[in-house]
Amino acid sequence: MRGEILRQQTLQSPLRYPGGKRRLSSYIAEILRTQELRPRLFVEPFAGGASVAIAMLENDLVDEIALADLDELVASFWKVVFSSEAETLADRCLNADATLEAWRQIRASDPSDDLGRAFKCLFLNRTSFSGRPIGTSQPQTPVSNSNTYTRQSN
Ligand SMILES: C[S@@+](CC[C@H](N)C(=O)[O-])C[C@H]1O[C@@H](n2cnc3c(N)ncnc32)[C@H](O)[C@@H]1O
Repeated sequence: MRGEILRQQTLQSPLRYPGGKRRLSSYIAEILRTQELRPRLFVEPFAGGASVAIAMLENDLVDEIALADLDELVASFWKVVFSSEAETLADRCLNADATLEAWRQIRASDPSDDLGRAFKCLFLNRTSFSGRPIGTSQPQTPVSNSNTYTRQSN
């Protein structure tokens, strides 16, 4: 039954979050079905990777999503993703130097605008141990002085 409600779960959040709520998506979809609910707006207040909101949108179970996060890097990331600057962010990632030196520079940077914070969030999330963009983040092993980080890796 769950598989019937969540027909698709192919879109994955660009942000890695250990213990993310993605696997709750089927459960939430089932609650909506049994309660015969079709909310216009789905709010994910501790958004992080926003995995449940993404699954709700992908399966057309809601019309709109609203995301909030205390971490201003994460908040800026989602703001940019749903803005006209999304492509600029993607280009910046494609051209990013995934080296240990770049990781240190980006980690120490203090971007003053949403685009800069969004880039810092995504870069550190994808290249730091456990994906933590702030706090005590450490580079994950593949980031070294050579450019060995693969953009497709999880
Ligand atoms: C475990 S992550 C969320 C995982 C996400 N829902 C997913 O499935 O990928 C928790 C997020 O909540 C945010 N957070 C923690 N305390 C918060 C608060 N008081 N208000 C808003 N966001 C908060 C953190 O910054 C973090 O990004």
